[in-house]
Amino acid sequence: MRKKVFVKQNTMIIQLKNISKHYEIPGSETRRTILDNLWMEIEKGQMVGIVGPSGSGKSTLLNIAGTLDKPDSGTVMINGTDTQNLNDRQLSEIRNNHIGFVFQLHHLLPQLSLIENVLLPLIPQKNKLLRETANERAMDLLGMVGLKDKITQKPGQMSVGECQRTALVRALINEPDILLADEPTGSLDQKSADRLGELLREINLQKQISMIVVTHSERLAKKMQLVYTLDDGDITPRK
Ligand SMILES: Nc1ncnc2c1ncn2[C@@H]1O[C@H](COP(=O)(O)OP(=O)(O)OP(=O)(O)O)[C@@H](O)[C@H]1O
Ligand SMILES: [Mg+2]
Repeated sequence: MRKKVFVKQNTMIIQLKNISKHYEIPGSETRRTILDNLWMEIEKGQMVGIVGPSGSGKSTLLNIAGTLDKPDSGTVMINGTDTQNLNDRQLSEIRNNHIGFVFQLHHLLPQLSLIENVLLPLIPQKNKLLRETANERAMDLLGMVGLKDKITQKPGQMSVGECQRTALVRALINEPDILLADEPTGSLDQKSADRLGELLREINLQKQISMIVVTHSERLAKKMQLVYTLDDGDITPRK
């Protein structure tokens, strides 16, 4: 009889090892180091905040963690897979299966209704079960964010906060392992920002989705389990 081999489940959703990123300064020979041998690991279910001065590289770090941008050196592992030698198709498959993005500006398509925007990431989804249960999941998530009665409205007919909550549902529709959010409350008033922060926490707890949340907001940072400060190319845990 063949022995069963048990592989230890990798609980690290994202591992950034020795990540460096530089940008050329236009019109000069010099390079600016944005990320300098940075290490960071996010475990399943962890909710991590990143704060730091404007221009310190927070968005750059998030884009690298989400494989939207490549580091100059270092390794990005997603669910135990080294992404370095993957081609564009493989990378977009990894993103589609494992990662949800919320950007500072919501990037909803203006010509589509709320529900059409939410279901857009299902187009490249290959998992039949996820496709078949998408409507149900969308309504469940839209219930959580209080938008069930607005599904036929277009972004132009919605408030900024409503658009941002729609973008959050869209980021979660494919059941990602991790949500990467860049200033998700940046354009919201305090009440809507607090509400979105609560929602992120609730979704993290209920669905065990890991999160990296870049923010300038102290109120949002306080909701995270762990907060890193990014400065001078590296992160340090904030006390
Ligand atoms: N494509 C690029 N070419 C050259 N420099 C760039 C490029 N993209 C970003 N930078 C520079 O890298 C630095 C980090 O940018 P990044 O957008 O990651 O900062 P940030 O911490 O997200 O800032 P903010 O809080 O204002 O959003 C900035 O100084 C920016 O000018
Ligand atoms: Mg930024």
